[in-house]
Amino acid sequence: MAFDLVLFGGTGDLTWRKLMPALFQAFRHGKLPAGGRILAVARDERSDDEYRAFIRAKFAEVDAPKQPRDDEFARFAELLHYRRMDLSQPEHYAGLKTWLDERGAATQVLFLATAPHLFTQICAQLGAARINGPQVRVVLEKPLGHDLASAQEINRVVRASFAEQQALRIDHYLGKPSVQNLMALRFGNALFEPLWRRESIANIQITLAESLGVGTRGDFYSQTGALRDMIQNHALQLLTMIAMEPPPTNDADAIRDEKLKVLKSLKPFTPESVARDVVRGQYRAGSIDGKPVPGYLDEPKVPADNGTETFVALRTEVNNWRWAGVPFYLRTGKRLAARQAQIVVNFRPVPHPIFPGSARANKLVIKLQPEDGLELHLLASKGSSQGELLAPVSLDLDFDKAFTSERVGAYERLLMDAIAGRLNLFVRSDEQEQAWRWVEPVLHAWEHDPNGPRVYAAGTWGPPASSAMVARDGCAWDEEQ
Ligand code: BG6
Repeated sequence: MAFDLVLFGGTGDLTWRKLMPALFQAFRHGKLPAGGRILAVARDERSDDEYRAFIRAKFAEVDAPKQPRDDEFARFAELLHYRRMDLSQPEHYAGLKTWLDERGAATQVLFLATAPHLFTQICAQLGAARINGPQVRVVLEKPLGHDLASAQEINRVVRASFAEQQALRIDHYLGKPSVQNLMALRFGNALFEPLWRRESIANIQITLAESLGVGTRGDFYSQTGALRDMIQNHALQLLTMIAMEPPPTNDADAIRDEKLKVLKSLKPFTPESVARDVVRGQYRAGSIDGKPVPGYLDEPKVPADNGTETFVALRTEVNNWRWAGVPFYLRTGKRLAARQAQIVVNFRPVPHPIFPGSARANKLVIKLQPEDGLELHLLASKGSSQGELLAPVSLDLDFDKAFTSERVGAYERLLMDAIAGRLNLFVRSDEQEQAWRWVEPVLHAWEHDPNGPRVYAAGTWGPPASSAMVARDGCAWDEEQ
């Protein structure tokens, strides 16, 4: 299937850091459909060969196993083309249309890897230039809006040029193999579904912890914060996958309808519940892996006295029959004690314990990062001479080891899906808007809260108030159990 993939923002960070390595991996794995062209678009003048040399040099900065050998790059580079465009100029879009029409590829994927404020302009110009036929898909990277109104405005402009099924909103967490595995775990096995409800589950914890700080993105981050950067999208998408009802089919809309229902069932926040159930924090200097690191306010490009949160922990509930009363705890932060992304499903203890000292309940840990796997924590008899002493044991599945050759990274998967027109792992506009609707009361409450974020030392698990919030329900975060 011939395809053209156009990367707007062709010289930007996202392109060379994530997209080119992912495309190269797909090429190396033989997954990139034959006969494709990749066209990078950016402002400055350069030839195809100059662009190829630019990308070749940038590959030095990606992980060593993902770097191409010279002969591999030479073959990959044949797919790469470059075109200068001023994104405000209609005639430059007309030129792009001519380039695309000459080939008339069956699939044309336009990936907007530009600064987000350009999305609406690009979509409107694409529509005006009629680069929006049924063979065209447009891929939008987060952040999609800053609040509900700005997200709706982007969607309005996108919709004026493209049908919903042509607009692919990326949440790269959905491309992670462990997240797809969540669907497989729940709906490909009969084992868990009967237990997947309030009668058996005590609480669910979603942790997206990073040990990195805001790095060089201080200017972006200081206007964004952890709630917008991680909770509104990645954490809520994971929550929907955990909490959704079984979809009737594996089709994109069947899945997205169920995810939307979860978002609509989330307990709405009020100013009182924000004060009680949401903890925001900001890191101060501390140490990571034994090395001192600066505080957030000392990071490059962070304005003095910036009150943006780098940590959020919150408690919510899914108000429906399956989940009523079960706490869902979500937590994310920069400069935390570890890079760890996981979902912990804590089951209820046995109703009538007959073994002394065996109060520990089962738990299922779905690990997204750093490793990709599943742990089921059980109790087993030690077989000792002192009677029935039970000890915790776990069944550990390491998917990276189990499926070595087939695992692909998030961007590789999502780019291949975009080219193939598989929409399951992309976010529909109504889901995205509903997620904004749910986080907005938190943003509003914070605007009126003179206290600002609580401080925490880099290298810890966030402000102590996060543990206290969970402890109020008689629970503890996984690392404290
Ligand atoms: C991005 C956020 O969406 O996700 C970043 O903007 C964050 O701030 C990143 O670091 C985390 O992604 P991953 O895949 O490294 O967990």
